[in-house]
Amino acid sequence: MASTTGFTVRSARADERDEIFRLSELSFGMRMGPAEREYVPKVFRTERALVAVDGDRIVGHANDLVMTVTVPGGGSVQASGVTSVVVAPTHRRRGILRAIYTELHARSEAAGLPLTIFTASEGTIYGRFGYGPSAVVDEISVRGRAAQFRSTTPDPGGVEVVSLAEAKIRVPQIYDRWRRLVPAAQAKPEARWQQRVFAPAVQQEGGSPLFFLVHPDGYAILRRAWSSEGKNTATVHELRAITPEAHAALWRVVLSLDLVDTIEAEISPHDPLPWLVTDPRLVRVTGRHDTLWTRVMDVPAALTARTYQRDLDVVVSIEDPFRAAGGSFALRVRDGVAECERTDRAPDAEFGIDVLGSLYFGAHRARVLAAANRIQVKDPAQLRALDEAFAADRDAELGWFF
Ligand SMILES: CC(C)(COP(=O)(O)OP(=O)(O)OC[C@H]1O[C@@H](n2cnc3c(N)ncnc32)[C@H](O)[C@@H]1OP(=O)(O)O)[C@@H](O)C(=O)NCCC(=O)NCCS
Repeated sequence: MASTTGFTVRSARADERDEIFRLSELSFGMRMGPAEREYVPKVFRTERALVAVDGDRIVGHANDLVMTVTVPGGGSVQASGVTSVVVAPTHRRRGILRAIYTELHARSEAAGLPLTIFTASEGTIYGRFGYGPSAVVDEISVRGRAAQFRSTTPDPGGVEVVSLAEAKIRVPQIYDRWRRLVPAAQAKPEARWQQRVFAPAVQQEGGSPLFFLVHPDGYAILRRAWSSEGKNTATVHELRAITPEAHAALWRVVLSLDLVDTIEAEISPHDPLPWLVTDPRLVRVTGRHDTLWTRVMDVPAALTARTYQRDLDVVVSIEDPFRAAGGSFALRVRDGVAECERTDRAPDAEFGIDVLGSLYFGAHRARVLAAANRIQVKDPAQLRALDEAFAADRDAELGWFF
């Protein structure tokens, strides 16, 4: 893996962990607390990381974990979840990210992984590597105690405030049922629960400890904090509902907390929350951001793993600027189930592999991407078919940030 540009890419050693942490803290501008230092290497093994070295200094790093990710229809694929991509400020724009990415994706290709996924720090960097934004959330702010629920909104109850000890048992079990239904959601390693939710250091961060509201089919994790102006905010760290009843039951409790001025949360774009209350404007969207980026590594394997909303007979030409995953593919869908193989037939639709990543979990629609000239398709009927076929029953959601 030697390079002619003054750096070498190689596997990391366990004893290089602190140097990697220092580079990450500098690159992302954050402090890695005790929970991060203890649990990050248990989720992302240091020995699996790739580092760029210049002399005896580490000047670049990336790691990944093979994750089980749900696809539309409830199946799953194995995906490389890429994390902690950093290059030292002394060595930027010399091709170190590209060199590390080349190695990392060659490894995923050799392992036969159909997808790679990533949470991107900036929107302009990763399209060139074949990644497209593939899940989004709305940031919302709701005035405390202002919500009136509609008379038609279910009031099933069943929510309990549980202790940390009880949450440690019940919450991961509910998450695991939830993530199997939700496109893009990943299985969550035990060490990640510790690092981000259950570790004593996390309980001591911020204002109050984290509180756990548990329903048989959902949970909410939230923290409360007083500002210096005496305002109280409840921040929903995570709310997962398997059923509409669990969703309504949990939000009824969260929106009726006393002594709360503002409730802040992130919800997916088609979350039913605004429809539960008499004034949908109360659920004020204050921002929107992508949570996941996806790159398809193996087009037939990825496209046959998910199901589709209607029959399709289409030849797609996919351009891959980074690896050799592109080409022309015949995609045939009957009763939701796809067959996909390489073909010499003339394409009906042409697009980049980053666009395929954006379509894959159903978060973005083909007709919108075609309107932006990101998909070229001559026949409007083919566009409508693609648009409808790639939609999903549930919004794509990132299960856990990495
Ligand atoms: C983002 C980062 C990893 C880039 O590393 P780098 O070694 O400077 O990147 P490279 O020189 O290999 O650049 C690869 C390509 O990406 C482009 N690129 C790199 N950083 C970019 C940026 N911030 N914005 C737009 N394009 C960028 C380069 O122009 C180059 O394009 P090309 O190969 O098509 O000509 C580095 O700046 C960094 O560590 N930033 C802080 C942490 C961070 O944002 N990490 C991102 C992952 S979450």
